[in-house]
Amino acid sequence: MELNSYAVHSKNQYAAHLLTRDLLSASMERLATRCRLEDRDTISHGLSVRRRRIADLGSADGSSSMETLKFAVQSIGDNLPLHITFEEHPASSKEKLEAALNASDDWFIKHDVTREVLMRSFYEPLFEPESIDFMMSYICTHWLDSTDVSEGGSIADWKTLGATDKADTSQLGWTQVNEFNTPGHVREAWRVSLAHRHLAKFLSLRSIELRAGSELLLVMVGEPHEFVTPSDGGPGPLSRAMKRCIDRGELRREVLHRTIVPYFLRSVKDVESALTLAAEVEVEGKGTPGALLQLIDCKSVPVTTRGDCDIIGGAFDLFWSIHLNSVESANPTMFELQCIKAETRLVFDEIYDCEVGVPSSFVACTLRKRTHECWDKFS
Ligand SMILES: C[S@@+](CC[C@H](N)C(=O)[O-])C[C@H]1O[C@@H](n2cnc3c(N)ncnc32)[C@H](O)[C@@H]1O
Repeated sequence: MELNSYAVHSKNQYAAHLLTRDLLSASMERLATRCRLEDRDTISHGLSVRRRRIADLGSADGSSSMETLKFAVQSIGDNLPLHITFEEHPASSKEKLEAALNASDDWFIKHDVTREVLMRSFYEPLFEPESIDFMMSYICTHWLDSTDVSEGGSIADWKTLGATDKADTSQLGWTQVNEFNTPGHVREAWRVSLAHRHLAKFLSLRSIELRAGSELLLVMVGEPHEFVTPSDGGPGPLSRAMKRCIDRGELRREVLHRTIVPYFLRSVKDVESALTLAAEVEVEGKGTPGALLQLIDCKSVPVTTRGDCDIIGGAFDLFWSIHLNSVESANPTMFELQCIKAETRLVFDEIYDCEVGVPSSFVACTLRKRTHECWDKFS
């Protein structure tokens, strides 16, 4: 993710936040109810009420997170003292995130909200057990755990997962695993060996950190998404552009072979399968924390990704800011990178409707941490 550029273009996918506000406000109402009950008890014992803890995972530059958190705090209704953790991958810029939060200083003070920034991967433990009252993560958890590689290997090895002949380079002409032209066995190997496992690990970790009764709201890019599976049934725009550049002699074939976008676009069923798997994941000394998670809501949300004035240009700018790092990781020369970018932009004009934008979808789900395991398990 190129944060400078994402900060400018993230508004082009803010619809994922807007169209899932029903889930967020429902979670906030339940949080407010839990707090009222707890505080009544606390006050009756002459104690002071506790500051509730909220976490936003994958805050990027903080701009979309702040908009959504302002809405969340407004939805809680009561003036509840809060502490919000803004978490982001350590490879991103802490300074940029802090600067965006500092710009909202007045809002933090007015609403009695304290804050911190935590630069750590969400595929690791983040918080003390049973400490968080609500967690949310928007447009992040489709990114897989790119540290999950065998010793001495790299994520480029994921391109041949499940393949019997690893030397067969004809299988490497894709960049996004959900594309139509990806070998089916590779996509299925990703689904089971990466996508389900990584989400299950994420869920187990969060289940340890949530307080009993607390909720987790996840919104991730899902399928179908025409950034990956265009309606003409051909390759995604990045793979298509790279192939054309190779044909014209502007790009070395090995750059395409090395390029891999490490995300998986899940369906609602995939999220359910990952949750089933999470219930079985053993965490040392903690049993199977994922078994405490209960799915309250899970749905696919169709959206259209587009720019405000320049519909396709805006969609392209967002696409490029999201995928640039993955292309750069394959070590193209500056000339090759410029050719890929220019060709991808042309492909956008060819395959997407300039009056509509790019049909896309997100999977949104709310999970609650139970106080005890599901009774069915014991029957
Ligand atoms: C598309 S941005 C979404 C940002 C913001 N939540 C929003 O809704 O606009 C995805 C973010 O997830 C972050 N991310 C990806 N993998 C991560 C990981 N393992 N740990 C923490 N953050 C991660 C990226 O760095 C990036 O900032």
